[in-house]
Amino acid sequence: MLNKIKLNLYSNNYKVEKNFLNKSEVNYFYKSIRKEIKSIQKDYFPYMDFNRYFNTMYQLENRLSRILSYRVLNSEKFKKIKKKIDKNSFINPLFYIHVFKKKKLNSKKSLPFLDTLLHYDFPYKLYANTYWVGLLPANEKTGTICFPKTKKLISKFLPNKKFINKYNAEKYIQNHKKLDPLIKKDINMISLDPGSAVRWSSEVCHGATRAEYGDSLRITFNFRTILKKHLYMSEPNIIKFVEDFNNDVDIYNFLNLANLGDYKFCERMIKKNKRFIKFKNYLNGLNKKKCDNLIKSNPLKTPNWREEYSFTKNNFF
Ligand SMILES: [Fe+2]
Repeated sequence: MLNKIKLNLYSNNYKVEKNFLNKSEVNYFYKSIRKEIKSIQKDYFPYMDFNRYFNTMYQLENRLSRILSYRVLNSEKFKKIKKKIDKNSFINPLFYIHVFKKKKLNSKKSLPFLDTLLHYDFPYKLYANTYWVGLLPANEKTGTICFPKTKKLISKFLPNKKFINKYNAEKYIQNHKKLDPLIKKDINMISLDPGSAVRWSSEVCHGATRAEYGDSLRITFNFRTILKKHLYMSEPNIIKFVEDFNNDVDIYNFLNLANLGDYKFCERMIKKNKRFIKFKNYLNGLNKKKCDNLIKSNPLKTPNWREEYSFTKNNFF
């Protein structure tokens, strides 16, 4: 579908939308995230002191942050979000909540300047709009969204003809000493108040900076929207996937959580809501020991985003 749209990959057309969420909405999202962080602790790490749990497990994207995203951004939240976006659009199934608590570091070891390397968003090979929303102030200190200012810098990150990004996280980390001076020189870092959002489309290169060391906390979330006219240029399996997801976000979240090993949340959903009873067998089929192991012994490992939604049996990639 991307081949059917004329893309200007040198565009740096992003827009800040002040008060995308009002104060009470910010509070509502913030409280819901806090509640789920506590609930995940109660489910899997009840023996740990809360501060130790929070300070060690919420520093980068990992299994817990994916679980947090799928637990929090349910159909109720997307209903609120849908009121604020173009009526002729769908929500893309890929969305993230980032709660990053940075520790004070004494080491002088040179760390990469970016937490999320410069890249383009082509989720499921669709032309999308990304919204990046701050729930706490986001700035240089906390780490924030950033955009290259010059064609020279963008040219280092242009994707290939199949729209695959030039670097993945590992490759960027290996090359960061060479790339970071160029990035620091030509990057725009965006400061956001709580509730404000930045919006950009698939043709805009972007990344996120790492927090300056200190006790900073960043709470942001991002999601993508697709205009119907763009979706309908796509393959039938992708159209069906996006439509089905929009019709029932909670079922898709449930299945993603089951695959991430979050059987405790899924068990509660089955007890609470008759709609989920049909998945009782599926959940019983999951090896709980293995699930416990996924979360308890490997909470900091980042699952591959390509494996999320693998239960749809669509071969998107
Ligand atoms: Fe992105």
